[in-house]
Amino acid sequence: MDIKKKISRKISVAPMMDCTDRHDRYFLRLMSTNVMLYSEMVATKSAIHGDRSKILSYSPEEKPLALQVGGSDKKELAEVAKIAENMGYDEININLGCPSKKVQKNMFGACLMKEPDLVSDCINEMVNSCKIPVTAKTRIGVDNIEDFEYLNNFIGKIRKAGCKTFILHARKAILKGLSPKQNLNIPKLNYQMVYEIKKHNPDLEIIINGGISKIDEIKNHLNKCDGVMIGRSIYQNPYSLAEIEKEIFGNSDNPSREDVTKKLLEYVEKEVKLGTKVNHIMRHTVGLYHGQIGSKEWKRYLSDNMMARDSDFQKTKHIMTIAQNNEKANKVNL
Ligand SMILES: Cc1cc2nc3c(=O)[nH]c(=O)nc-3n(C[C@H](O)[C@H](O)[C@H](O)COP(=O)(O)O)c2cc1C
Repeated sequence: MDIKKKISRKISVAPMMDCTDRHDRYFLRLMSTNVMLYSEMVATKSAIHGDRSKILSYSPEEKPLALQVGGSDKKELAEVAKIAENMGYDEININLGCPSKKVQKNMFGACLMKEPDLVSDCINEMVNSCKIPVTAKTRIGVDNIEDFEYLNNFIGKIRKAGCKTFILHARKAILKGLSPKQNLNIPKLNYQMVYEIKKHNPDLEIIINGGISKIDEIKNHLNKCDGVMIGRSIYQNPYSLAEIEKEIFGNSDNPSREDVTKKLLEYVEKEVKLGTKVNHIMRHTVGLYHGQIGSKEWKRYLSDNMMARDSDFQKTKHIMTIAQNNEKANKVNL
């Protein structure tokens, strides 16, 4: 069944390697029907030559869903855009922001900010190969460049090639001297630069990203940009999506954590039968009780038991029971 949902990028969950796999996205979707979801970055060669049923498959419930791709070979990128469209993805996004050494070696990610002509050729080829939107996720600068004119020209070139949506991580990429992890916190965020880009390009869809977690912050950014992308804070506290649904989308009919765990249990049961390991799903749920009574117990129980052999599936059911008891305890203590 193809569940068609309209794309809105008002709020999206950031692509995160080793985090936003299909199981995590299914779990997140249980708490939010309105956010846009992104895959982890997939290299063009893996998407083209790898086992697509493993690398690119997803559940229809995850939609609307974007595939993020990493690469700089225009033919390969165009082929992946076509594959994404044929597989029912709603968007293809090119990664122009990752600073890791491995990614640089393969000429994709943030180092492409120094190659605007190459990027523009790639985007042009992608746009011509598919009908789904081609979007770009980039940084506000790279190495010694943190300059409005440079970013604005870079965006201008890509825009001419047919990209109308830009996700701007408001922190410049440092290609040498910092680890990718450090570069998620250093140097300082510069939201103003993103606001300026929106002001100068009112017809482009500009999504702001980096260090955003609170509802007030989200509302403030939405006054100046078209959308907000959030990464780590949603991964650490996934149930914050319920608050986002309520406060940003006016949806008060949100599932409780108990409802979420019940639905997840059905998914786990189905997936285990297909050979998925319990921990491959449950590892994403460690933060479900973030800030709640019993959250430590939930985390401890998961870390002690989620490696259970699949045949020992009753343990997973027990994890869910703990979750439900926690939810009741929280209700009593409200
Ligand atoms: C564990 C992890 C993996 C990431 N993987 C990707 C990725 O595959 N593609 C990408 O464009 N950005 C990736 N990022 C960057 C995020 O998409 C996002 O831009 C960054 O975390 C800033 O947003 P935040 O402060 O809301 O987390 C990753 C970040 C983290 C923490």
